[in-house]
Amino acid sequence: TGTPIPVIAIDGPTASGKGTVAHRVADRLGFHYLDSGALYRLTALVALRHETSLKDEHALAKLAAGLPCSFVGEHIYLGKEDVSQAIRREEVGNTASRIAVLPAVRHALVGLQLGFRKPPGLVADGRDMGTVIFPHAQLKVFLTASVAARAERRYKQLIEKGFAANMADLLQDLTERDARDANRSIAPLKPAEGAYLLDTSDMNADEAVSQVLNWYAAVRKRH
Ligand code: DC
Repeated sequence: TGTPIPVIAIDGPTASGKGTVAHRVADRLGFHYLDSGALYRLTALVALRHETSLKDEHALAKLAAGLPCSFVGEHIYLGKEDVSQAIRREEVGNTASRIAVLPAVRHALVGLQLGFRKPPGLVADGRDMGTVIFPHAQLKVFLTASVAARAERRYKQLIEKGFAANMADLLQDLTERDARDANRSIAPLKPAEGAYLLDTSDMNADEAVSQVLNWYAAVRKRH
């Protein structure tokens, strides 16, 4: 009953800038924010720590279903431990991409993701927000950028955070991860039906945020 809680789904490849854009859009609208990639990263981090075999789908799904995670402002906790930094490591991202191909893991994370949809609204970022998790999202955006632009952004991010980074490794890693995310049989990365495409290769975050807000304003007027 009443009007549904609005959702803005922002999907795209790794390091496309969707995290920054989605977060800022959420701030501007006063909406909640879901970083769905963080859930796969959290599962990966726990799996790495427990040395769970990446082939043991059942065990990994159990870890995903029982994640003791909480999101407080910009910080992500596993139990009482702030893992905001730890989950950004390349090794964790890579492992996340590997376990994200497993149907049981994806299934185990559905309920958790749906739970983020609360008044007054949600901005959700990931790979399958508009295609699988929130197919009725009021606005769907598919954010892309060239591999070169994304590698450069990721490089700067890592250096800023004090991590070591190597451009050639990053390029190779991004290309491999793109292929894995796009070619998996379940919930592959692809634009949702009706998604607006936004190529941010030559755009800064402010411009991308404005574009998404403009689209959302237009969509709202229509409903
Ligand atoms: O967006 P990210 O780099 O934090 O995501 C890490 C990995 O998690 C990514 O390589 C694929 C997976 N992922 C996914 O399969 N579905 C999502 N909705 C979000 C992330």
